[in-house]
Formats: sequence, C-alpha cells, structure tokens
Amino acid sequence: MANVVVVGAQWGDEGKGKIVDWLSERADVIARFQGGHNAGHTLVIDGEVFKLSLLPSGIVRKGKRSVIGNGVVLDPWALMDEIERLTAQGVEVTPANLMIAENTPLILPVHGELDRAREDQNAVAKIGTTGRGIGPAYEDKVGRRTVRVADLADKATLESRVDRLLVHHDALRRGLGLPEVDRAALLAKLEEIAPKLLPFAAPVWKVLNEDRRAGKRILFEGAQGALLDIDFGTYPFVTSSNTMAGMASTGTGLGPGAVDFVLGIVKAYTTRVGEGPFPTELDDDNGQRLGERGHEFGTVTGRKRRCGWFDAVLVRQTCATSGVSGIALTKLDVLDGFEKLNICTGYELDGETLDYLPTAADQQARVKPIYETMDGWSESTAGARSWADLPAAAIKYVRRVEELIQCPVALLSTSPERDDTILVTDPFAD
Ligand code: GDP
Ligand code: IMO
Ligand code: MG
Repeated sequence: MANVVVVGAQWGDEGKGKIVDWLSERADVIARFQGGHNAGHTLVIDGEVFKLSLLPSGIVRKGKRSVIGNGVVLDPWALMDEIERLTAQGVEVTPANLMIAENTPLILPVHGELDRAREDQNAVAKIGTTGRGIGPAYEDKVGRRTVRVADLADKATLESRVDRLLVHHDALRRGLGLPEVDRAALLAKLEEIAPKLLPFAAPVWKVLNEDRRAGKRILFEGAQGALLDIDFGTYPFVTSSNTMAGMASTGTGLGPGAVDFVLGIVKAYTTRVGEGPFPTELDDDNGQRLGERGHEFGTVTGRKRRCGWFDAVLVRQTCATSGVSGIALTKLDVLDGFEKLNICTGYELDGETLDYLPTAADQQARVKPIYETMDGWSESTAGARSWADLPAAAIKYVRRVEELIQCPVALLSTSPERDDTILVTDPFAD
C-alpha cells in the first residue's frame, strides 16, 4: 500500500489543509509530524468552514485515525481549545480517533512569553513569528530540558523536568526584564491539564508500524513550507522545525522507506507572511489584486500575506530538497482575469544568472527575478472539476509550471471547496 507525505513547497499557506482533507478520503491514518499551532489550515466542506491548527486535517472525516507525532511541539491548552471549537461544529475528537505521541515536547506559557518578548524587544532580530512559542519550544527540546507528554503522568518526574527547564528560563527572563516563573502556578496548571491530555497519549511509533504492516494507508501532513525549513529555508527568517518531507519519518517513528509518494503543495503564485527575502514580491496593483482575489490574510494571526508572481526557481529547488514526486497546484482560479502573467525562471545577481537561490543572506536579499511573460485568460476557472473545463491559456500556464519545476502536476485545485479539485495522478496508487 502506498503512503503519502504532503509538504508545502513555498512559504506556507499553499492550501495543504484543503488537499490533505481531500486526500484523506483515501487514507486510513493522517499524521502531523512537525510544527505546532503556528500552522493554520482552512477547509471548506459544502460551504462550512473548518479552521485547524494542531489537529490533522483528516480529523473531520469519520473512521480515520488522526495522529500527532513526536516531531510536533504541542501546546495542550491550544489543543483543548481547538477540540472544543471542532466539537461545537459537530466533529467528534476522542482517544478513539486522535492519538498523540508520548514523546511529544510541550509548548508551555513560558515559550510564548519568550517568543513574544524577543520579537518585541529586539528590532534587529525580528523574524515576524506567530508568537506561539514554537522557536523556544524546539530550542528546549534540542537543549534536553523540555517537558514531554509522558512526563505528565508522574508527579516527581514532572517536578524535576520543570526545575530543569526553569533554571534556564529564569536566567533568560532576568536578562529580558521579565519576572521569574511562578513554579507552583506552572505545576498546578500542568497537573490540571494532565488528565485531559493523557488519555490521547500513545506509543505512536508502534501503532503506526503496526498500521503499516496491516496495509493501512498513511497520509503524513506537513505544516509550513519548505522555504521556512530550519536548514534549507531563508534562514534566519524561517520556522524552527524541518518542514521538508524527510521529517515525516523522524517526526513519527517510521523508517524513510515508509514513504512512497511526496506531494508538494504549490500555490499558482507566491505568498509569504512575516519578514525575510521574497524575490518576486509585488508592491503594485498586481500584488494588491493577488492578495484580494486570494483572500491572503493569515489564518493564525490575521496578518496580510505578502504576494508575488510564481517563482519557478524556488519551487524547482524545494521539489528537489523534498524529493517531490508530484505537485498539487492550488489557487489557479486566483489568476483568472490577469491579462499577462509573469513567471520567474532565474535570478540575476551581480551580472550573473543563477538557477537556484543562493544561501548567503545578503545574496538572497539582492537577487533580481528574471521573468517570462505568459498570456492570461479571461474565462473563470473557479470551481473547475476537469481539464476540459480549463481555458487553453490556463492549461498552457500549468504545463509551463511543470516544465520549469521539473515535476508533474498530480492534482489541481480551483476553489476552497473540497470537491473543486482535479485529479491527474492518484498519489495513493501503488
Ligand atoms: P495551508 O496552511 O497550506 O493549509 O493553507 P491555508 O488554509 O492557510 O491557506 C490557503 C487558503 O486558500 C485557505 O483559505 C483555503 O480555503 C484557500 N484555498 C485552498 N485552495 C484554494 C483554491 O484552489 N482556490 C482558492 N480560491 N482558494 C483556495
Ligand atoms: P501553515 O501550516 C505561513 C512563518 C511566520 C514567520 C516564521 C516563523 O499554515 O502553512 P514561527 O511562529 O513558526 O516561529 O514563525 O514562519 N510561519 C508560517 N507562514 N504559514 C504557516 O503555516 C506558518 N507557520 C509559521 O509567519 O515568518
Ligand atoms: Mg496556513
């Protein structure tokens, strides 16, 4: 049986949630493997809108196993709020359909406070984070001083974990002019949430390996996008996890051989939230129009997303680093009505032509896009459900994208609605 990894191939918000929801009909298990509630995924099912941050986008379908893997950083209070919101929308979330890896690190209130304090106090180092404590939580994981889900089950362990963590945090907080952490209040908060969280805890690595042996289909759901990857993204303007396909394995406890198909989610143009380089960014009417037609406002923070032309250089690069087998091209309909469309096919830097984004930060900031101009189309593609419904110019655009990124289109999305999706190649096919 084929297992599929879905990853964002740009700077996030490519429409991963919609595609994962659509694909999850064909899957048995849907697993998140990195990131946290910095992610914001919007699903639209028969007109009803579901907003997800931490829960896998398969949660809205009955009879599927949803999994939060150890590669995620988990804010238990944010999770409980999300479960409550979904329950109010009629979605059942119980230990029967949601499982959380016992070795998942927690995001505690100190992490969000530190994230926001650093962003507010240091204009030089501002990343434009979501303020959710993602960076500090991953730092503590790697620093071997974090609290993990399993630690909640034993009072003595929990206390010693918290003490280890606070030695570090109190020192930092003194430097930032924040009050030291109230140890008793933090422990009380954790003891209060523990009985709500622990029923979901499980040895995810074991269950997933058994599922795999039983021939179940696993869909790994990535958050963010490959250009926000801690190693290969536009560092330091990135998130704090590996957002690429390779992370699906270490973020859940399945070997790399478990992945049969990597689906890269690609928006038909480019957006980015937060600071950092963006070669094809548009500061003109076209950029404005993309933002308006695409409703480009962040799900998590409500911030306006920066918009620009499609950058084939970047997507070719992220398809390579994630080993993308095929892409889902989303939001094609947003391009309806543009007379001309530009696609970036290379960069110019100091008189040289580049076919990739260099690593040095000053060069990333200075590269100038080289554009190829294509004819747009005046017809509407919104809601198209087959190739036959697409105007010739739109098909030409899609074909040119495939050629430039050296990767085929497996799926095409033409509206936020679940079923406004065109299937070209089934990622789950054996
Ligand atoms: P994610 O973070 O990758 O899951 O993406 P988001 O949900 O943050 O942002 C994508 C937005 O575009 C959401 O509001 C979706 O409902 C919407 N969307 C997804 N696919 C399409 C599409 O093909 N056309 C249009 N117009 N909107 C889409
Ligand atoms: P989804 O899953 C878009 C960006 C933030 C900031 C940087 C670091 O919805 O695609 P962080 O809070 O992670 O430390 O912020 O990463 N960012 C995202 N941008 N989509 C996301 O998730 C993002 N998650 C984080 O805006 O620039
Ligand atoms: Mg999003």
